[in-house]
Amino acid sequence: MSLFFNPEKCRNETEVESKLIVHYLLPKLGYPPDTWHQEITFSRMRLDFLVVASEIVNRKSTVMLVLEAKHPRQKLDKHVRKFKRYLTSLNARYGLLTNGKIVQVYQQINNELSLILQIQGHEVEEKIQEIKFLIGRDELNSTKTVPSLLGSGSLSKKSLSEKYQSFHQEAKHMKVIAIYHNKGGVGKTTTVINLAAALRKKGKRVLVIDLDSQANTTYALGLVKFHDEAFDSIKDKYVYHVLKEKNKFFISDVVRESSFSKPEFDVLPCHIDLMHHEKELAEIDATRTRIPTKLVEVEDKYDVVLIDTPPSLNLYAKVALIATDYLIIPSDLKPFANEGLLNVKNFLTEINEFRGVIGKTPIKVLGVLPSKILTHDKFVKYVLPKMEQIVVERYEFPLMKSRIFERRDVSAAIERTIEVGELDIPDPRSILDHKPDSQSAEEFENLAKEVIDLTDL
Ligand SMILES: Nc1ncnc2c1ncn2[C@@H]1O[C@H](COP(=O)(O)OP(=O)(O)OP(=O)(O)O)[C@@H](O)[C@H]1O
Ligand SMILES: [Mg+2]
Repeated sequence: MSLFFNPEKCRNETEVESKLIVHYLLPKLGYPPDTWHQEITFSRMRLDFLVVASEIVNRKSTVMLVLEAKHPRQKLDKHVRKFKRYLTSLNARYGLLTNGKIVQVYQQINNELSLILQIQGHEVEEKIQEIKFLIGRDELNSTKTVPSLLGSGSLSKKSLSEKYQSFHQEAKHMKVIAIYHNKGGVGKTTTVINLAAALRKKGKRVLVIDLDSQANTTYALGLVKFHDEAFDSIKDKYVYHVLKEKNKFFISDVVRESSFSKPEFDVLPCHIDLMHHEKELAEIDATRTRIPTKLVEVEDKYDVVLIDTPPSLNLYAKVALIATDYLIIPSDLKPFANEGLLNVKNFLTEINEFRGVIGKTPIKVLGVLPSKILTHDKFVKYVLPKMEQIVVERYEFPLMKSRIFERRDVSAAIERTIEVGELDIPDPRSILDHKPDSQSAEEFENLAKEVIDLTDL
């Protein structure tokens, strides 16, 4: 293994691959051979190198890096467009493009590609720490997103460490999103669980918090297999304990992994017993801020937290709205459905006043999400646009671009069971796992994209 790199020795593409990438960069950046693949073909793309930067160490996140080598005589500009397509189709977060003479490092966020470092081939050795800081294995495992260092080709060590520090100070990447409407049955739980799956599939590290004492999310995520108290493993450790205790039951102690979707995501479960604790918890003032306080501990562990809420104006709805940064309001937009939005509006005013007192900014409403929308033509053509217009004009809520229609596939995915002996055991799956090619799967994928865009996730 060569410990230094001489760009003069790269005379063709194969030499850039072997001398610069295989023998110098990959080992220097901390990637052993079992973390990368050479010459792989992926839906009609041929990648020179695909590196799985973080899954092996930390299965909760998959950060991928694509490295492409070109002939030293080829201009890199000509290849950037295709390279971008590779990165976005794979949802690879980082890319390195080089012809041996020039080395470029790119970062891809939400289909946008930015050049975060460009150096000359002969500077590679001198600048290896900078490259490592951006795409080294240890670094990608300890940080989630590196700051954009556009135009930083000549960064000194000092300025690099300053940038690194300010990045960590600014960094509060974890986004908290509550899904709330005080009206029942509008698709809150369905939105939470399928959006969680869609975001997870885009590489986001997801935590779902179930704050509804119906525990529908906990059930739908497959954490309750038997309706028999003897098998009730949730009652002793769920969201109630997190809310009640100050110095115990931290979020990482209580979360479980759900196999509702692949890759898996974490859930802070609920239990129907929560309904009996409302009065007791309401008497403890700190209950209202316990979730945001305890979320600080897991800020580096998750990119996004989705909170399912009860169809009410109760304590748990308040707890959710105090904890959240953003709000999505699902509504079926049937005639009269919008009237419920007035309650949401008044409730938000009350919560925002409390948030002001505790020094939190007002909730950012991502919008009303048309959800469980009837598919028949007349409704879609005549009623729906009118109802959408009312949301914006009369209630002054933003409207989300995504629409989730009422389709049998969505409920069938949640209602799946498997036969074990004489028992039918719940085996729910997200719509993206149950029927990945369905219209519903596409709708939730689009919702995930919209949420990523709106929250800069
Ligand atoms: N897009 C959809 N297509 C088909 N069925 C749906 C869809 N969304 C929700 N449902 C079904 O409608 C019912 C209510 O949905 P869901 O539980 O998500 O609503 P909710 O707002 O969480 O209800 P609650 O207020 O009781 O918590 C469920 O049986 C669910 O399977
Ligand atoms: Mg629900």
